[in-house]
Amino acid sequence: MALLVLLSLLYSLCVLTITCIPISSFTSSPPSADNVCTLQNSFPPSFVAKGDYVIGGIFPLHYNQEMPDLNGTYKALPVNCNGFDPRAFRWAQTMRLAVEEINQRADLLPNYTLGYKIFDSCAYPLTGQRAALAVLNGLSEDDSPMCQGASPLLAVIGESGSAQSIVVSRILQPFRIPMISYFSSCACLTDRREFPTFFRVIPNDDYQVRVKAIAQLLIRFNWTWVGLVRGDHEYGRFAVQGLLRELQGTKVCVAYQEMIPLLYNRKRALEILEVMRSSSAKVVVVFSAEGEMTPFLRDYMTQNITGIQWVASEAWVTASVFTGSEFYPFLGGTIGFGIRKGHISRLSLYLQTVNPWLYPNNNLVKELWEALYGCNPSPSPGSQLPPCSGQESLLEQHSAYMNTSSPRVAYNVYKAVYAVAYSLHNLLLCQPGTGPFQNNSCAQRKNIHPWQLQYYLQEVTFNIGEEEVNFDLKGDSIPYYDILNWQRGTDGNIEFVNVGLFDGTKPVGEELVIQEDRIMWAGHQSEVPVSVCSASCLPGSRKAVRRGEPVCCFDCVPCDSGKISNQTNSIECTLCPEDFWSNNDRAACIPKKVEFLAYDSLGIALTVISVVGACLTIAVFAVFFYYRKTIIVRVNNSELSFFILFALTLCFLCSLLFIGEPTLWSCLLRHTAFSITFSLCISCILGKTLVVLAAFTATRPGDNIMKWLGPKQQRSIIFISTLIQVVICAAWLIDAPPSPSPNTQYERSKIILECSVGSSIAFWCVLGYIGLQACLCFVLAFLARMLPGNYNEAKSITFSMLIFCAVWLAFIPAYISSPGNYADAVESFAILASSFGLLFCLFAPKCYIMLLKPEKNTKHHLMGK
Ligand code: TRP
Repeated sequence: MALLVLLSLLYSLCVLTITCIPISSFTSSPPSADNVCTLQNSFPPSFVAKGDYVIGGIFPLHYNQEMPDLNGTYKALPVNCNGFDPRAFRWAQTMRLAVEEINQRADLLPNYTLGYKIFDSCAYPLTGQRAALAVLNGLSEDDSPMCQGASPLLAVIGESGSAQSIVVSRILQPFRIPMISYFSSCACLTDRREFPTFFRVIPNDDYQVRVKAIAQLLIRFNWTWVGLVRGDHEYGRFAVQGLLRELQGTKVCVAYQEMIPLLYNRKRALEILEVMRSSSAKVVVVFSAEGEMTPFLRDYMTQNITGIQWVASEAWVTASVFTGSEFYPFLGGTIGFGIRKGHISRLSLYLQTVNPWLYPNNNLVKELWEALYGCNPSPSPGSQLPPCSGQESLLEQHSAYMNTSSPRVAYNVYKAVYAVAYSLHNLLLCQPGTGPFQNNSCAQRKNIHPWQLQYYLQEVTFNIGEEEVNFDLKGDSIPYYDILNWQRGTDGNIEFVNVGLFDGTKPVGEELVIQEDRIMWAGHQSEVPVSVCSASCLPGSRKAVRRGEPVCCFDCVPCDSGKISNQTNSIECTLCPEDFWSNNDRAACIPKKVEFLAYDSLGIALTVISVVGACLTIAVFAVFFYYRKTIIVRVNNSELSFFILFALTLCFLCSLLFIGEPTLWSCLLRHTAFSITFSLCISCILGKTLVVLAAFTATRPGDNIMKWLGPKQQRSIIFISTLIQVVICAAWLIDAPPSPSPNTQYERSKIILECSVGSSIAFWCVLGYIGLQACLCFVLAFLARMLPGNYNEAKSITFSMLIFCAVWLAFIPAYISSPGNYADAVESFAILASSFGLLFCLFAPKCYIMLLKPEKNTKHHLMGK
């Protein structure tokens, strides 16, 4: 940039176009060579028309320039402009049309004519400066009114790019000549102290409306990872700054920011293109215009980069130089905001009147023909293009120039000219003595000072069609943009299709209206392109920012169990409420599964076993009943045997209470029923053992000990020892009854419905009592096992108690360590196992003898031993 400033200074010194040397204008002697005004350098206007009041126009009729060699040893050649821009040519024509229209009108500036001088700025600050100086001068020395005191021109319509407008404004400022820009939107131009004579008919970016619109567009299409490319000028700098400010706090991140150098440099451009190619950001927002974009896009086309979706700023979204069919594969689908369009009824007809035969000396018209038809209207020997036939006619299809259906910038030019005309009209209407200037004076019609016109410009209000035009102190107008999409037209060229609008007057959030189905995206796609750093995190996972990378780049981490995220791209997983748990996808909280020992395979197996056990016991009962007369039943205390069998049946059935959903009743019954039946059962066995022991330890026959163990006593022993258990159970039920309770501690993802024991002391007491009985029984039976007698049951009782104790000893650790519903299964299983143990040990041998070896079931056999 510093180099450029230096260059520009050097250059201005060389070509400061005109210097007036007003010496001795009062002397009577004829003007000599050294006392007249001489133009130091000439720069011809593109179009001129004489009039009573002259306004200047500056348009970027070329978008490129070639710097002369500036080595300082000879007078530098003028800068060469190239790259004809038909669109800007149209704007210039629009200015001419407006002036001609005004001159024909009887109600506006009657009796006066407007004239114009239109210069080419070449879309570059330096050449814009040349145009500004040239516009201040007359066309030639004779013509220059400069030395006669009258103002050379009243106002300037221009410039296009903000960077040029700044230069032009600075040059016009000392002369207080107002300028009205038709395309400079940079917020940097709003400062009235710095640019006191600057007006514009385009909404400025003061509150970043345009970039707000672009930010909204990015957010709307979920483009969270975008590249920014800008030109090296105020417009680009301010727009990027504004966009970055606007994107702060949104979900959009900027992948890279690149600047195309002011003096185009292919090496740098290729570096930028490499960045574009390697980045995953497929959406590129460009704040630039034809000048640097043309060579840049040409290089882009050679680099074979695919999938770029361009987002164009208003500066190039309607640029005609890129509408050729060769651009379509690379630029088709571009989307951007175009400034508000208007209607100029006579524009189309007027533009058609321009042709090289009408303006044989106008080089620009020739260039227009070359650009549109590729032919040379005035063939000269060195020309490379074929001569024109003369039949060429300007039709709508030459959209670069003739696209007049929706003039946007041209409409602004039109408004600007009218603004000057209306102000001048008002100025001329001034009645002496009521004027706004010192001592209520008016401006002198013959000698209007530009600052006087500025006063009227600031005040002017008029209508064009429906629209009211005026300037506020800052020049803001309603922010309104059309959304344009570059689509392939019928002839293969690019057409700008209106696909929506941004209306800044609407409430926040409703400003952007897009007809998405009408958009054709880059690469001729109908689906919205994706431009993200990381794909979004689906529900069930959360974002985890990568250290040192922008927030848009993240990893997706699945939520922990018990936590969910139900939105895409959540930052956090939320904990499920108390009785809820995450589903498999971790996307929703579902009620926790309630588990208990249900009638599933385990439950059914236990049920079957217990029913089988109960049936078996009943069968044994039946067998015993059937053989009740036989010796083997009688000798072994049949009454007690029937009691035991009854108790065992109950024991088997008890285990059913543990299966199924725990209810208050089943909880109350479970342990009590089981403990009482077991107590009963073991009491009976205990009774039996006692009888056996007593019978054989009575050393002398007739000893009375048997008297003390008659059936009555036996029954009371059984009754009492069972009663103790009943009392314990009763106390338990009264004091702290068991009840169903959901257990959420054991497994966090499930609710286990179990019977809380109420009082674990009671529970262990109950079990302990059974254990005590069993141990006592075991000890007594152990003592009696060696006693003689063929049907001595002591052995089988010892054995059964061994099994019983083993089962219940194994039960304790298994019970304690099993989770809720399995604890029930363990208990139920222990009940079944011990019941089977008792059943088999006590009754299987007898049943065997009764059913299979009846010969052993005789008194004889019993006595035989
Ligand atoms: N709105 C832009 C500006 O204010 C339009 C523009 C015209 C432009 N010509 C340009 C932008 C050249 C960059 C370069 O500047």
